[in-house]
Amino acid sequence: MTQPALAVPPIAAKKVTVATLASYRARGRRAVFVTAYDYPTAVFADRAGVDMLLVGDSAAMTVLGHPNTLGVSMEEMLIFARAVCRGAKRAFVVGDMPFLSYQTSDDAAVRNAGAFLVAGCDAVKCEGGIRVAGRVRAMTDAGVAVMGHLGLTPQSQAQLGGYRVQGKTLAAVQRLTDDALALEDAGAFAILLEAIPAEAAAYVRERLDILVYGLGAGPHVDGQLVISHDILGTFVGEIRPRFVRRYADLDVEVENAFRVYGEDVRAGRFPAPEHLYPIDPIDEAEIRAERLAQSAGVIPTSEARRDLLCVESREQQQPLPPVPARRFAPRDDIRTTIS
Ligand code: KIV
Repeated sequence: MTQPALAVPPIAAKKVTVATLASYRARGRRAVFVTAYDYPTAVFADRAGVDMLLVGDSAAMTVLGHPNTLGVSMEEMLIFARAVCRGAKRAFVVGDMPFLSYQTSDDAAVRNAGAFLVAGCDAVKCEGGIRVAGRVRAMTDAGVAVMGHLGLTPQSQAQLGGYRVQGKTLAAVQRLTDDALALEDAGAFAILLEAIPAEAAAYVRERLDILVYGLGAGPHVDGQLVISHDILGTFVGEIRPRFVRRYADLDVEVENAFRVYGEDVRAGRFPAPEHLYPIDPIDEAEIRAERLAQSAGVIPTSEARRDLLCVESREQQQPLPPVPARRFAPRDDIRTTIS
């Protein structure tokens, strides 16, 4: 005889912390890292078991429609960060420090990093190596967990000459390593390497004790970051990095849903009966009687109203409620719409 399955209550997922991430590395488990800018994406990613969420300044391009990442402000980033933190129950959330939120002074860096933590983030990320190490030190001294970002750093794309692969020669990889070591010395808990060859990422990681994540940096890292709009197919723009793999075509799905909805509205197929709020048939009949009478430019007497209700009531086979008596009287404030 088969036994009925026991209902096992779900085990509350434990929040991912810096210590959890370090334990993943020790066990050779790769962290799963995606960008999120809103509450539903954070909820879906969290439910799917994603370990880390980056509230990236890529929001400037992915959700705000700017041509690059420079156009998003600290104020906007905090709105995205709060929404993501509301949705992320388990995932480790990294707030991305937007352009000019840390470059100008240690004080600005600490205040803005602190604002991300107050918004609910677990860490912040900033771009650059040796030249921002002082800022990173100021933030880590203030108790903030900081992730560095090296390789293709979009905030300095003007200096880099566009979105170009970095670290393609030994000399370039050695410079990247010096930058990474400066960030490690400044107390960063992790580095993100973007758009560099796999061998270069392996070289850098082997020289660091801290965690190393990659976006377009090959497999020899502690976890993979992707931009959620790239893998879901919702990025609107011309940039198609080599490292992107699509896992859904939501652009097609969404466009199609809007198109079919439009066709249904225009053809009168939406709303259908199942989308209507039901009310008591007697009340419905009374409202209809009033509509008919008003469109005829008259106010029905209680008798006329009752006659109309009788018709409805016979159809519905419902007893009639008593209707308060009212004199039949024309109203001049009602314009007749019947020609
Ligand atoms: O903002 C972002 O999504 C990023 C990634 C491109 C690394 O910084």
